[in-house]
Amino acid sequence: LFTPSELVERFTSEEPAHHSKVSIIGTGSVGMACATSILLKGLSDELALVDLDEGKLKGETMDLQHGSPFMKMPNIVCSKDYLVTANSSLVIITEGARQEKGETRLNLVQRNVAIFKLMISGIVQYSPLCKLIIVSNPVDNLTYVAWKLSWHIRVIGSGCNLDTARFCFLIGQKLGIHSENCHGWILGEHGDSSVPVWSGVNIAGVPLKNLNSDTGTDKDPEQWKNIIKMKGYTLWAIGLSVADLTESILKNLRRTHPVSTIIRGLCGIDEEVFLNIPCVLGEDGITNLIKIKLTPEEEAHLKEKIQKELKL
Ligand code: NAI
Ligand code: LAC
Repeated sequence: LFTPSELVERFTSEEPAHHSKVSIIGTGSVGMACATSILLKGLSDELALVDLDEGKLKGETMDLQHGSPFMKMPNIVCSKDYLVTANSSLVIITEGARQEKGETRLNLVQRNVAIFKLMISGIVQYSPLCKLIIVSNPVDNLTYVAWKLSWHIRVIGSGCNLDTARFCFLIGQKLGIHSENCHGWILGEHGDSSVPVWSGVNIAGVPLKNLNSDTGTDKDPEQWKNIIKMKGYTLWAIGLSVADLTESILKNLRRTHPVSTIIRGLCGIDEEVFLNIPCVLGEDGITNLIKIKLTPEEEAHLKEKIQKELKL
């Protein structure tokens, strides 16, 4: 055996530098899919993982570390203690308390509120300037909770970035065109009550509504409306979608994404509510909102919201 100093001579002293540290809270399916997507895109120079379940946390971390020769990112660390997340540029929350037998959805949310209280204070203590992406469900409610608890640091709900990607994929599949060239937005709340903005769907600037004004309605014989109803247990697309948001933030790209943010005075909504609308995303988090133009039906649909039920 030999010691490292027999091979390596120290040339200068090094200070640890954190330029684009990302931390992920929750190393379940979604957290690990986010981790691999971010690692494979080479977006971060340090990745910190946190989970309550120490065995799972260490196992998942070692598995990722063993892939180091194939990634250009040397530092993957983990701990149950939030200290490991110190100096993060971005913290992604994918913690997932499971719904217990007979538990109501509202009760699950209230349990998550209690978890978020501890979690957010741990994160903010060690990375007061970080951006936060919330993925845990119900994502719009929990984004609101995180915003309330974090003294309004830059909080972004991953929300409809995924729904919109699904929408564009399904339109593309139907037309035989790459989803990147199918322009359409899903806004409002992530999940079943989200709003497909059919009035804006277009390919190369040609609105589908101009070809058939019934597109996206019950009257449409082609039933385009049904393409948004396919859902299930997911991890890969949400992982890729979160990596896409991460790229816009860490590279300050100022791209527009349908993400969850506080809505005040837009779309006829005056209350403090978190909904997904197109937002400009860069190194300061959400810097601008796009003033969307909706039809009266789309606007009415967007206003159906549930966040009033929450107790903080
Ligand atoms: P999972 O059950 O595989 O993983 C959840 C992880 O959270 C577990 O490893 C668990 O130990 C950990 N955890 C629980 N309480 C914790 C705490 N207090 N602190 C730290 N870690 C804690 O669940 P999965 O499939 O990864 O889903 C995670 C969440 O993401 C769920 O809420 C799910 O509904 C949501 N989700 C959101 C999507 C979106 O588009 N916003 C898409 C897909 C899932
Ligand atoms: C999704 C999760 C479950 O895949 O929110 O949409």
